Amino acid sequence: MSPAKRAAELRRLIDRANIAYYVHDAPDIPDAEFDRLFRELQSLEAAHPELTTPDSPTQRLGAEPATALRKHPHLRPMLSLANAFNDEELLAWEDRNARLNSDARHSGYTTEIKIDGAAVNLTYAGGTFVTGATRGNGTVGEDVTINLRTIPGLPLVLQGSGHPPLMEIRGEVYFSRAAFDRLNTDREQAGEPPFANPRNAAAGSLRQLDARITRSRRLGLFAFHVEAIEGELNASSQWEVLDQLAAWGLPVAPHRARHPDLAAVQKAVATYEGMIRTLPFEADGVVVKLDSLALHDDLGTVGGREPRWAIARKFAPEVAVTRLLEIRVNVGRTGALTPYAVLEPVEVGGVTVSSATLHNEEIIAQKDVRVGDWVEIVRAVEVIPKVMGPLRDRRDGTAVEFVMPEECPVCGTAVERPADEVIRYCPNVACPGRVLEGIVHFASREAMDIRGLGYERVRQLLDATLIGDVADLYELQAEQLIELERFAEQSAVLLIKGIADSKARPLSTLLFGLGIHHVGKTVAVLLARRFRTMAALQEAGVEVINAVPGVGPIIAEAVHRFFRTPGNGRLVERLVALGLGMTEPDAPEADGPFAGMKVVLTGTLPTLSRGEATDLVQRAGGYVSGSVSKKTSLVIAGSDAGSKLEKATSLGIPVIDEDELLRRVAPRP
Ligand code: IVH
Repeated sequence: MSPAKRAAELRRLIDRANIAYYVHDAPDIPDAEFDRLFRELQSLEAAHPELTTPDSPTQRLGAEPATALRKHPHLRPMLSLANAFNDEELLAWEDRNARLNSDARHSGYTTEIKIDGAAVNLTYAGGTFVTGATRGNGTVGEDVTINLRTIPGLPLVLQGSGHPPLMEIRGEVYFSRAAFDRLNTDREQAGEPPFANPRNAAAGSLRQLDARITRSRRLGLFAFHVEAIEGELNASSQWEVLDQLAAWGLPVAPHRARHPDLAAVQKAVATYEGMIRTLPFEADGVVVKLDSLALHDDLGTVGGREPRWAIARKFAPEVAVTRLLEIRVNVGRTGALTPYAVLEPVEVGGVTVSSATLHNEEIIAQKDVRVGDWVEIVRAVEVIPKVMGPLRDRRDGTAVEFVMPEECPVCGTAVERPADEVIRYCPNVACPGRVLEGIVHFASREAMDIRGLGYERVRQLLDATLIGDVADLYELQAEQLIELERFAEQSAVLLIKGIADSKARPLSTLLFGLGIHHVGKTVAVLLARRFRTMAALQEAGVEVINAVPGVGPIIAEAVHRFFRTPGNGRLVERLVALGLGMTEPDAPEADGPFAGMKVVLTGTLPTLSRGEATDLVQRAGGYVSGSVSKKTSLVIAGSDAGSKLEKATSLGIPVIDEDELLRRVAPRP
């Protein structure tokens, strides 16, 4: 046999094996046999360079890395898709189409799984793959031909017949979950950041300048659309297009279906959604297309961007499946031990999640979550991600049950579990874990609101032994901070100022900031209003605290115990000495005699100073303003009242004197 004939034969055998392997998932020859054929072709081409054709399977890998990706203008624009998130939106889509062409309601639909990958445009001329490009801006993409050539499922030469002489085939390049997991494991071992999701990984892999990298990534491809540029496509429906693509040797996504009407589509969507998580790749919805190609032509596009004839029916995005790598235990400011899941990073509803709370050991047991499990993660809008539960059928016997530690994971002190509580506590008030959380909480916006003092900074200050508790914050000097890494002079000065400003916060804020067990914001306000000063609260007995409306025996006991714990008593003393405000300003009476009123003071009152009068009005719920207007409710006038009194009289606003003021604010019998 001549070398040319043998080369052609080898190419045919290798192409066929590739299609069997990658398109039909049914290898027809052993791997070793494939490798032998491949090497034979390589050496044949090396010996006879003139036999090397651009469509040879050996040429899937470009030899030299490119220096930059070239721009590729698409022959037809690459469209995107409108989304529908529920049945109503799908129905509205049909209604719009039916208004433009009444056939739209009655000519049937095709549904396809929507693969979450990177869109590609493959140009075939005379049945040979000539150029491949990314979507880019839809009009111009980037030429990634040599990278696409490394995708084993992509036919360099089409099989079968009926190819339009020039066409663009549109498809999606994707990562299987397995290949994606392998890639990220490798990257992490190499100290490289993992990809957030298979879509990003696919796009990144396609845009490599060195095609050897792309090849090592084992990308997959699914084709779903044809734009015939020259010649005609021999199909009248989307369903036939997919059949045609498959017949040419292009991989077509599994799970496609044809439906007589939209009701049937909606039913199918539910079925797709149920099985979506079992697929070996990520899909984020179903693409619903009008089946008739004649209708595609007739309906056209919206602004040249989206076809009217197709829509993406998206699934609820906030659920994801990932691996639970480890269960760690966090020590909170109260000493509570909270287990949380360390997850293989996964995108849930648009954010990358790498950990999720597990609340407590009872919940872990209830959900039967084990270390090493595949777990389902949910994230409601703006809510912390949560582990729903394990995928039991993915267990291979290696997952391990979690046991809560008997010792604090930070300081090693034996933990305590109060009777009838599911939570264990580290009882050591000096536990570094508790201290860190405690200071971060103290500085948080809800508490003392010290800007720029988050986890990272607090950890840094603790590590540098500049602080050990919250009182130490008030002794910090800007010069000490500037010595630290990542502290510019300006941020040091700002932080010191922020700390100093926080001294003026009311008692209720400080009480909340101290992180007393069971004292949340509301209870802190109740206590501060009742006792007014830190000293009064410190001295109060359990029964007195218990008597405060809204405060029960458990809270009273916790507050009482807090002040009698030696370290805490000393801490409060230091805070007093450092000049923190330890009082609660009088709260305005919501139902006081001046509630909601705008009051103006004018002239000299016989006995009260202006400040005292203002205080009385404010405590009675009123608001003191400087000038009289139509909105003024009342004027309090003394001697030598000038123009303000005149104006009030002319506007018909009531005027009272000091006697009347004192009478009105006097406690009622
Ligand atoms: S049809 C003219 N069908 O989803 C073709 N798109 O969000 C318009 N996608 O850019 C798209 N699977 O990259 C279509 N079966 C499928 C698809 C699919 C995935 C991608 C495609 C498109 C994006 C829109």
